[in-house]
Amino acid sequence: MARDESSAALIREYRPSDMAPMHALDAVCFPPDVAFSRSELKFFVSHQDFITRVAESDGGMVGFAVGRLVAPASAHVLTLDVAPAARRSGIGTALMEVLHAEFRRMGAEASFLEVDVANDAARRFYEGLEYRYLELLPDYYPRSDAFRMMRPLSAPPGPAEPQA
Ligand SMILES: CC(C)(COP(=O)(O)OP(=O)(O)OC[C@H]1O[C@@H](n2cnc3c(N)ncnc32)[C@H](O)[C@@H]1OP(=O)(O)O)[C@@H](O)C(=O)NCCC(=O)NCCS
Repeated sequence: MARDESSAALIREYRPSDMAPMHALDAVCFPPDVAFSRSELKFFVSHQDFITRVAESDGGMVGFAVGRLVAPASAHVLTLDVAPAARRSGIGTALMEVLHAEFRRMGAEASFLEVDVANDAARRFYEGLEYRYLELLPDYYPRSDAFRMMRPLSAPPGPAEPQA
């Protein structure tokens, strides 16, 4: 559990009481034919290869992210949701940084995700986190195409060497 300095949100592990607000937030963030069902979300949080992290502010959920290890060296971001009123305050970035750290801890060397070609906000967001476009996935979503994106998970820079 950690309070992220840049976003002022608490990033913590999932707990069972999060299921209802997670499901409600996903329905706000995505159209009905793209949002996850409650049973899909329940599968994610119960599976050991999945990582779910929640962003909390003033005791309420303002975001969550779900990722998973898909192969020994690869990880996949399944969803990232930030409540509309809490956007542009660093919460999405804080959630992704925690996911990336967990992916590295599990041995992943690269993180993959899909983003709707029309989702300009998410595309700018992921570009800023150094994700790069790999390929176009036609008809990936019910009514639109997606881009697959990837970023290497090289270790974050450590402290500078002390000067002699
Ligand atoms: C995409 C999303 C997760 C971003 O979350 P967020 O908490 O607002 O992101 P941050 O505050 O950490 O933004 C970091 C940077 O990303 C970029 N960014 C984020 N939203 C943006 C937008 N609407 N337009 C342009 N750039 C944007 C900016 O560079 C931003 O830095 P800045 O605010 O200093 O300019 C959020 O908009 C969201 O939940 N959208 C709906 C669900 C969704 O599309 N999820 C991703 C699916 S693949």
